[in-house]
Amino acid sequence: MNETLFLALMDPAGAPAHPLIFLVLGVVTFALHIAAVALLLGTLVLAIRGAIFSRDAYAQRLARPAAFTAKFVVGMVIVLGVAPLLFVQVVYDPFWYTSSMLSAGWTLAFLVLVLAGYLALYVFALANDEGGENAGPGLRRASWLVVSLIVFIAGGWVIHSLSTQLLLPSEFMQWYAPQGRVDPSGRALHYSSIPRLVFFLGLAFPITAAWLFGMRAYLLGSQERDGGYIDYLEMTGRRTAFIGGIVLLVSGAAWMLTLPASMQWFASSIWPWAGLVPVIFFLALPALQKKRRLCIPCNYGMFLMSIVMTIVLAALREVLRYGTLLQAAGYDAMQYKVNFDLPSTVIFFVTFLLIGGVALAYMIRLAWQAGRPQGAMTVSAGTERLGTAAVALLLAWVAGYFIIGIATITGAG
Ligand code: HEM
Repeated sequence: MNETLFLALMDPAGAPAHPLIFLVLGVVTFALHIAAVALLLGTLVLAIRGAIFSRDAYAQRLARPAAFTAKFVVGMVIVLGVAPLLFVQVVYDPFWYTSSMLSAGWTLAFLVLVLAGYLALYVFALANDEGGENAGPGLRRASWLVVSLIVFIAGGWVIHSLSTQLLLPSEFMQWYAPQGRVDPSGRALHYSSIPRLVFFLGLAFPITAAWLFGMRAYLLGSQERDGGYIDYLEMTGRRTAFIGGIVLLVSGAAWMLTLPASMQWFASSIWPWAGLVPVIFFLALPALQKKRRLCIPCNYGMFLMSIVMTIVLAALREVLRYGTLLQAAGYDAMQYKVNFDLPSTVIFFVTFLLIGGVALAYMIRLAWQAGRPQGAMTVSAGTERLGTAAVALLLAWVAGYFIIGIATITGAG
């Protein structure tokens, strides 16, 4: 393998800030992405179960908010998927682009799959839009939820394959020209690891369980009168979390035992043991919830802690990638050439923290208030102000985008 080739493929312009920033942001945004993916798949399963397979009145009641949560979360999956895509392209560009070019047909198919899954969810939502998410008659056209679930899992498998292929640079030549004959079609997916895919998709169990605990607390706070439904959420959450802990433990162990030779250094290091911390947390989730069920903030805390544990897993996944490419291809992501660009770094963080932060705070606060009272909802003056600030900041950003763009172009000319 010609290792200098990979160095030559790095963007000669370099990264606009230290690569560590991109690695950390990549880990955090990937964790948020995969947590959103987990909630999407988990709520789809709950919705399908209640709408098609279960005669239990509570399971049927849960199907509607679960389906509407899935429709909302898919937007987060996409937005939070773009973020790690940007970061991985910056620090691992020689490997990411090679992997996606070697399977170019599938890279494009991924977009079609995500689009199809999203559309299927909307066909379902349009057939069930009366009465909002908590009311209305039984669900119609629920088979679209099944289509959506299958298509999203297929999309997850493709992106999984693309992000594991990049870890095997010694195979690139063989994949590009099998037996010496060049195959530029991009038709094949060359590598995937089922245990690894099951591990990441298996996060659907604990994350959805933690979401159910949060939902239980939310309904308690809004004076939900049906105690049987509250208990149903609690028990379903506990069962789901328990199954999830087992799935993660088994698939995680299988993943470590089936690592290819160039990644086996990871299995024999301390890192998989660190990975046991989140897995044990997920296994203990039902017991923790049982103990703390009367403490409403703790119910929300379970969800927050589950996200923190997902960040730990995402960090370990990054250690595997960083170490493998260092050993297999002599590629040190931390040594990426830096061409420090203050304006673009400032623009990025201002956009991310200020524009994104205020808009997100507005939406969360609004959703929160919408669920609190029984009957008609009144939006507080503070929330109104936050909404106005979010729109004003966005308009200022769009104006700034054109002003800076035009100034740059005319200045360069
Ligand atoms: C609903 C459909 C989706 C599912 C089920 C899904 C699932 C996954 C899974 C399982 C992984 C981990 C792969 C692994 O490391 O083995 C992953 C990674 C990733 N996903 Fe998604 N994903 C979905 C949608 C998206 C979308 C729409 C985007 C982009 C717009 C996206 C961008 C990414 C990226 C960039 C990574 C790799 C990040 C990295 O290597 O640092 N995903 N996704």
